[in-house]
Amino acid sequence: MRRPPPTLLLFLLLALVLGREVVTGFKICSYNLQGFGPKKAANYRVLHTMTRVVSRCDICLLQNVIDPDGKAMKNLLSVLNRRGFRYERNRFVAVTSKGLGNASDDMQQYVYIYRSQVVTASSMYQYSSKKVFLRDPFVVRFKSNKTDIKDFILVPLHSDPDNVVTEVDKLYDVFVDVSQKWNNTNVMFLGDFHTACGYITRMDKRNIRLFTNSSFIWMIKDRDDTTVDSKAACAYDRIVVYGGTFLKAIEPFSAKAFNFGEHFKLSMAKVLEVSDHLPVEVTLKGAAPLLQATPLLVLGVWVVLQSFLSASVLL
Ligand SMILES: *[C@@H]1O[C@H](CO)[C@@H](O)[C@H](O)[C@H]1NC(C)=O
Ligand SMILES: *[C@@H]1O[C@H](CO)[C@@H](O)[C@H](O)[C@H]1NC(C)=O
Ligand SMILES: *[C@@H]1O[C@H](CO)[C@@H](O)[C@H](O)[C@H]1NC(C)=O
Ligand SMILES: *[C@@H]1O[C@H](CO)[C@@H](O)[C@H](O)[C@H]1NC(C)=O
Repeated sequence: MRRPPPTLLLFLLLALVLGREVVTGFKICSYNLQGFGPKKAANYRVLHTMTRVVSRCDICLLQNVIDPDGKAMKNLLSVLNRRGFRYERNRFVAVTSKGLGNASDDMQQYVYIYRSQVVTASSMYQYSSKKVFLRDPFVVRFKSNKTDIKDFILVPLHSDPDNVVTEVDKLYDVFVDVSQKWNNTNVMFLGDFHTACGYITRMDKRNIRLFTNSSFIWMIKDRDDTTVDSKAACAYDRIVVYGGTFLKAIEPFSAKAFNFGEHFKLSMAKVLEVSDHLPVEVTLKGAAPLLQATPLLVLGVWVVLQSFLSASVLL
């Protein structure tokens, strides 16, 4: 019986080991939690569902968090990081903005939960628009060695539904500001923009620079549905990136609303306990050497298969 040369077997093994990293991908997610605070965090079922959603993401932007003393977020993180839980090898950490808004009972925070082994939050910046935004973006710059794009900036927005056109247009100024500040145009905007259904018209788009300037690429499209209720298909939650460099670093067709109720087979009531929005997500490509492992894997499997096939023909 003919054996595959040992070097090829080694090749295959190497490709398998490296290939695993590629398959996982690097997910960036955004989720409007519709008022996540101590009350929701006291419900274990809600925390458990959130854990399943958030643990799939390497970075997860949470919006509409009202948790002034941080207890709800501490609960969520401790469930996420609990020893013995199936995600125990991951250590999740969070960075949180201050409460933003103009009503004392609705001061919302932007929270980024991220997997600290694969990505670091290298700088943060609270943008100030002097009352153009109801909730000014809390901008965070991330660095990772696991991704094709090593250094990128996330700009969050939970817009005021009564002021969508002005606020989403203003994101352009945030882009100019932060890209100069950090000399980096790898910028992704994400959050509940309300750019759908009754909040915006076709005409309005002409007054939004993120729509009129084609260097901004809308990953979550108008036809996507980011709501739990399937009766109204509205793409409120969005992910937008600037420039070809960022676009090339994203897995094609990976941007979507994640219908976790369907995926985890949960009732709509359980999903709605968390939020009436669905999380949206996009997958970044892995770092270059890992990506090269995939063709190697295919080649390796083919070679081994060939030698087994010819062996069985001889038998
Ligand atoms: C909050 O800001 C919005 C504009 O973003 C404004 O319409 C509203 O009147 C403000 N509310 C208060 C209480 O200041
Ligand atoms: C990336 O790799 C460099 C060099 O190996 C290291 O200094 C740096 O800390 C790593 N960065 C992250 C975010 O792991
Ligand atoms: C800004 O970044 C570019 C490359 O991305 C680099 O060529 C340039 O020197 C940088 N400028 C400054 C002021 O650091
Ligand atoms: C789009 O925005 C970029 C970044 O600010 C700018 O360099 C470019 O000139 C704009 N394009 C148009 C057509 O306005």
